[in-house]
Amino acid sequence: MDINNPKAVIGANSWGSAAYGKLLRGSSVDDETLKQTIAAAKERDLLIFDLAQDYGLGKAQKMIGEFGTEGIFLSSKFTPTKKYTPGQVRRSLERDLTEFRREYVDIYWLHLPMDIEENLAETVELYREGKIHNIGISNFTLEECRTAKSVLDRAGVPLYGVQNHYSLINREWEKKGVVQWCKENGVSFWAWAVLEEGMLTDPRVKTKGSVMKLIFSGKKKKLRPLYAAMNRVGKRHDLTIPQVAEAFVANKGIVPICGCRKPYQAEQLYDAVNVRLTAKEMSFLETVADKVNVKILGADMFRFAVKK
Ligand SMILES: NC(=O)c1ccc[n+]([C@@H]2O[C@H](COP(=O)([O-])OP(=O)(O)OC[C@H]3O[C@@H](n4cnc5c(N)ncnc54)[C@H](OP(=O)(O)O)[C@@H]3O)[C@@H](O)[C@H]2O)c1
Repeated sequence: MDINNPKAVIGANSWGSAAYGKLLRGSSVDDETLKQTIAAAKERDLLIFDLAQDYGLGKAQKMIGEFGTEGIFLSSKFTPTKKYTPGQVRRSLERDLTEFRREYVDIYWLHLPMDIEENLAETVELYREGKIHNIGISNFTLEECRTAKSVLDRAGVPLYGVQNHYSLINREWEKKGVVQWCKENGVSFWAWAVLEEGMLTDPRVKTKGSVMKLIFSGKKKKLRPLYAAMNRVGKRHDLTIPQVAEAFVANKGIVPICGCRKPYQAEQLYDAVNVRLTAKEMSFLETVADKVNVKILGADMFRFAVKK
């Protein structure tokens, strides 16, 4: 697998804490199932796992470290929560490395656009020490992407990627030019929540209820025409509704990060991102998505956490 051109990424936000899994997804999965998910992903060359210290209420990173990280790539993040103080990125990364039982992370993202200059300068030091192999930014606007890139350009360090929210029903960062800017600058664009908290899955497939699903359940009725459109496109390619959501993003030249906790989800993700949708199918899906005009997660929903 070429780290600069991954087909898809496994998201581990709901790994770890059983309580968190239940709250978010209505069920938790055991360690054995997660190990099988990792194995299924590895078999298909889906080798990147996306993490952060708060995932699984702080348990996801420790869990993957315990399972063993040989042969996989780790993507983790520095999450600024307060104004910059020197050493904060280093301290956070050191905790990550302890949890991962590793000497380095493969991709390290500045999780929020706070104190961009200072946080990236420290990240660059860690990159030069070999503790970080690639640097990315997450939840950045176009202007903030430009600022970050110019900080890294001055240091002579490449910007690896931008990790923002993107899905069939939320294409804000494409409309605002971030996706195009990434393409023009050789920067990878990773999309989080491609399945919109499980709302872009087949409504006929019954899953266990959760607080999160309850919050969004009222929107399912409005999404019906889109489910029908996704089903129609899916039938032509032998894809399920969630696979159409994944294939749509991959066909945009965007890297989908999908919350996989079960082996079949990694298998389906692999199959989905290897399907070529036609221009007509892509535009049909977009048209129906725009018509239903339903939003689940906001494109810039973490902006409130950015302290000025
Ligand atoms: N940078 C950031 O600020 C940021 C923010 C949010 C997320 N992320 C990253 O993005 C990742 C993805 O987001 P997410 O995990 O929140 O949610 P997601 O991928 O949008 O959705 C996960 C939901 O989809 C279901 N699902 C997955 N594959 C499926 C399949 N093949 N068929 C049917 N259902 C399927 C899961 O089912 P089950 O309930 O059965 O597992 C779960 O309910 C995170 O894990 C994280 O790595 C990054």
